Amino acid sequence: MSHILVKGLHKQFAGKPPTTAIDDLDFAIEAGEFIVLLGPSGCGKTTTLRCLAGLETAGSGAISLGGTTWFDSSRRIALPPEKRNIGMVFQSYALWPHLTVRKNIGYPLQARGTKGPEAAKRVEEAAALVDCATLLDRYPAQLSGGQQQRVSLARSLVSRPDLILFDEPLSNLDAKLRDDVRAHLHELHARLKFTAVFVTHDQSEALALADRVAVMRAGRFEQIGTPFDVFERPATEYVADFIGLSNRLPAARIDGVTRVSGVEVEGLVLASAQHDEFVLRIRPEDLRLAPDRGSLSGLTTVAGTVIDSVFGGRHLDVYVAVGGLRLHARIEARTTDDWARALRGGEPVVVGFCPDFARAYGLENEGSRLITVQPLVATKD
Ligand SMILES: Nc1ncnc2c1ncn2[C@@H]1O[C@H](COP(=O)(O)OP(=O)(O)O)[C@@H](O)[C@H]1O
Ligand SMILES: [Mg+2]
Repeated sequence: MSHILVKGLHKQFAGKPPTTAIDDLDFAIEAGEFIVLLGPSGCGKTTTLRCLAGLETAGSGAISLGGTTWFDSSRRIALPPEKRNIGMVFQSYALWPHLTVRKNIGYPLQARGTKGPEAAKRVEEAAALVDCATLLDRYPAQLSGGQQQRVSLARSLVSRPDLILFDEPLSNLDAKLRDDVRAHLHELHARLKFTAVFVTHDQSEALALADRVAVMRAGRFEQIGTPFDVFERPATEYVADFIGLSNRLPAARIDGVTRVSGVEVEGLVLASAQHDEFVLRIRPEDLRLAPDRGSLSGLTTVAGTVIDSVFGGRHLDVYVAVGGLRLHARIEARTTDDWARALRGGEPVVVGFCPDFARAYGLENEGSRLITVQPLVATKD
């Protein structure tokens, strides 16, 4: 039996016109699983969390934990938040300013009637887990942002909840701290195996933390799968774009010749003969650049002109015009020669990629499906 089961969850907010925030969501979460909801602002992530927590009442659907019904619209059951054993971590740390760290962490225990030495022991254990044992007698104002977020993490763990909900908890931290807290959270989950739903709009955060990622679009799950699945096989063009395949090349094949934006693509054969028009999606890291086609043998190639080149330390971000398209190539500066370092706007280049790294989609719309998993083969020279 799944730990958490969500069936047909639907939530509309009143207004003119009304907003459908979540649209018939169905999913199951296993005990100990870390699920990440990934999607742009407004796609329904927070509303989904609030429905799980009982802070929002869905219009229809059901939510259960093991054998216990938390919510069932048809049976008019809606357990209040305090009857669901849930921990929550928010973007704003939501600590009580007038309470010490010790009292903040202990707050959920107090609310659930755990007192005395048992409560004190649990607070110290939770603080130790997040390296806050020495901060217990301070007030939130005396802590850095990262420390405050660790305290709110300890508070979410202290009552050993059935589920922990995270709403963009790392977004307010600066880049380095964000990486530290993220690594810490990953370690904690590996050790404690709590069940979590974590919301973010950041693809690298999602891939790093998730057992499974659910990519959300307009209140629905566009794809749910392991980070590897979502990264390697984005089911739709929308997912591909969101997960970093940011180069979009609409392609047309006429008389066996494939062109993007009117420019001929060499070394590309689509395994499926059904599509004469399709969209290629490819990551900036998977593009290569060279002065001529000969240096890119075995790869699919297309000719372009450099727009700009930006130094990035170990890499260069090179923007290349191909017909009317603007492609972004991120090439390693370590292995590139003087030629790549000297690239400037206006210079002709050849863009190459291994066709295994490109994904092809139907041309219809953003939601168009992956045509095949490995649709492309390079023609041999
Ligand atoms: N209390 C509310 N009243 C009206 N509309 C809301 C309310 N909360 C959220 N929405 C709308 O529901 C949609 C989903 O919002 P939300 O779940 O907050 O998205 P996310 O967390 O992914 O940014 C948005 O269109 C938002 O404007
Ligand atoms: Mg939100």
